[in-house]
Amino acid sequence: MASRLAALGRQQRLLIRNPEQAPQLPSSEVVQASYEDGSAMRAALNGVQTLFLVSGSGAGRLAQHYSAIDAAIAAGVERIVYTSFLAAAPLATFTHSREHSLTEQYIRATGKRYTFLRPSFYLDSVPRWFSSDGVIRGPAGNGTIAWVSRDDLADVAVAVLTTSGHDGASYDITGAQALTLAEIAEQLARVTGFPASYQSETIEEARESRAKLNPSDWELEAWVSTYLAIATGEMSVVSHTVEALTNHAPQTLADYIHQHPESYQHITAARL
Ligand SMILES: NC(=O)c1ccc[n+]([C@@H]2O[C@H](COP(=O)([O-])OP(=O)(O)OC[C@H]3O[C@@H](n4cnc5c(N)ncnc54)[C@H](OP(=O)(O)O)[C@@H]3O)[C@@H](O)[C@H]2O)c1
Repeated sequence: MASRLAALGRQQRLLIRNPEQAPQLPSSEVVQASYEDGSAMRAALNGVQTLFLVSGSGAGRLAQHYSAIDAAIAAGVERIVYTSFLAAAPLATFTHSREHSLTEQYIRATGKRYTFLRPSFYLDSVPRWFSSDGVIRGPAGNGTIAWVSRDDLADVAVAVLTTSGHDGASYDITGAQALTLAEIAEQLARVTGFPASYQSETIEEARESRAKLNPSDWELEAWVSTYLAIATGEMSVVSHTVEALTNHAPQTLADYIHQHPESYQHITAARL
């Protein structure tokens, strides 16, 4: 995102927790702040017109979002563009979608201009959904997902930030084709040459297998509800946002795998 905006000659202020990790980009200044630190956020956002708010992670992220939004309003920010999630809704099956929905409501209530980017699951993460034995396991039934790459999401975000007409919009951002987990396994196998498959689990089996990794309740619920949201059909949305806002087709799994052979190394390593 930042390098794309810099390449367009846009001025930006990069908020980062560890400035040593900040990219060196033209027309960019780097400011240290974390969402939960209201006074640092207010200082960092002073004079900023548009806040591009990337959702945080972890159990406390709703409070982090509220803190960042409060600071933005106090600092005089006029517009917020927020990375939400597909089908964000108060009663969404995927627990993270409920948090995204609450964050969207909080932003709407500020009365400021806003745009919500609602990406599907990341195409980049497809290989990591497979264990080293090439199996994707979960209670997803025959539900489908139109995975979208983070590159496509970044291209959409740049279009939203640099062109007009997006106020009040919530954009579903997906790939071009919704696939079942069995179909995505077939594609992975075809592109990598390694066997891959989908094994449907019951909810109990899913909880049991994940509980062995000692997750927090928040993590366990998010993990299992990821698959349940696929099973309900909530993830089956296919939108044309990428093409409409970027003038290029969304990346496919084959495109991504060819560009990132390292992404499935954990599967190949276990077989060599
Ligand atoms: N749709 C999906 O399939 C999918 C997959 C994975 C993740 N996600 C979610 O999407 C969101 C973004 O993930 P991503 O991989 O696109 O982003 P990312 O590359 O991990 O970047 C996250 C950005 O948010 C900033 N950030 C996060 N928490 C912060 C905090 N408390 N204070 C200050 N800055 C904070 C980070 O700042 P620093 O540079 O300081 O770290 C970083 O700039 C996350 O919420 C993640 O859970 C979605």
